[in-house]
Amino acid sequence: MRVLLIGFGVVGQSFAELVESESKKLAKDYGLRPKIVGIVDSRGAALAQEGIDIKKALISKRDSGSLEGLGGGLYTAGRNGLDAIRETDCEVVIEATPTDLKKGEPGLSHVRAAMKEKRHVICTNKGPLAIAMPALIELAHHNKIVFKFSGTVGGGTPVLDFAKKCLDGSQIRSISGILNGTSNYILSKMTSDGAQMKDVLAEAQKFGYAEADPTYDIGGFDTACKLVITSNYVLGTSLSIKDVGIRGITEITNQDILRAKSKGYAVKLIGRMDTKPKVAPEEIPITHPLNVSGTFNAIAFDTYPAGEITLVGKGAGGKETASSVIRDLIEIRRTFAR
Ligand SMILES: NC(=O)c1ccc[n+]([C@@H]2O[C@H](COP(=O)([O-])OP(=O)(O)OC[C@H]3O[C@@H](n4cnc5c(N)ncnc54)[C@H](OP(=O)(O)O)[C@@H]3O)[C@@H](O)[C@H]2O)c1
Repeated sequence: MRVLLIGFGVVGQSFAELVESESKKLAKDYGLRPKIVGIVDSRGAALAQEGIDIKKALISKRDSGSLEGLGGGLYTAGRNGLDAIRETDCEVVIEATPTDLKKGEPGLSHVRAAMKEKRHVICTNKGPLAIAMPALIELAHHNKIVFKFSGTVGGGTPVLDFAKKCLDGSQIRSISGILNGTSNYILSKMTSDGAQMKDVLAEAQKFGYAEADPTYDIGGFDTACKLVITSNYVLGTSLSIKDVGIRGITEITNQDILRAKSKGYAVKLIGRMDTKPKVAPEEIPITHPLNVSGTFNAIAFDTYPAGEITLVGKGAGGKETASSVIRDLIEIRRTFAR
């Protein structure tokens, strides 16, 4: 399976490492032999129809920040994702560029172009989906390609496909979840240590859990993206991020947390879809399965007749998210093989 990888950061590199380290198992267990025929980053692209030397690409990126070190005339500075989609003969495009919630770019253009060229698409970037998910699903149907985005919600935890495939025969009445690890880390530390939000945020930035600009996480926008994607995929809604009422955790004080704690509750940033989609801090009983601590994510599906089912796992991480890309590739391969 020939793969074009757009975005060679934490997720892109982890995916390349997994393809390299797991190649025998993937071939033996799933008949999957991914060949990376192109890699694009913000500076340029390396294309090689016979397959890129993954070890060399990883070393070049680590040592010089670019793919120039691949040599052999494979790399062209300034060649972008759209050029690479046009110029590469690939079956699957993996989109792993940074999330942008204003216009969804550059990911949205990459996804659209790939679909129009009839390439299957795997997207870990939430931007295109938060803005234009219904239109992209339609475009995928129209072009008869597979569009997968398991890594956008829950990192390596199979939230979307669990709800879509394992709950056949049950009705999902509502979804509620802790979907952002950074906010949960901050609230957990404020609860367990009485720490101040600004100090925990600084610590989270030091450990690399939080971005230099944390608005996306603590402002609730990341949670809203994931709620939109989950609700559209699982409940069949046609939401975009503009439809979600969003309140982050910035106004939560230590007093709020202490007050909740004295009643046996914890303050959590919850993305909830029942009648209307919303993101807001809520008090939940400390005994509730959603009350996970640290950077964990948890999502609860209220189902009939099976009752409430909660999934807990790491919501992010390079290797974890790359594992979801591998799952998506396996599914595309299965669809081909049918
Ligand atoms: N990291 C996680 O745990 C995680 C989990 C779930 C989902 N995601 C999502 O997956 C995506 C990738 O995440 P990441 O952590 O790998 O991000 P990252 O480390 O910042 O990597 C982003 C990559 O995209 C490249 N890029 C930026 N602009 C580009 C453009 N215009 N054309 C082509 N490439 C471009 C960057 O190039 P340079 O290398 O030249 O800067 C970099 O290689 C994001 O949308 C993120 O929200 C991440």
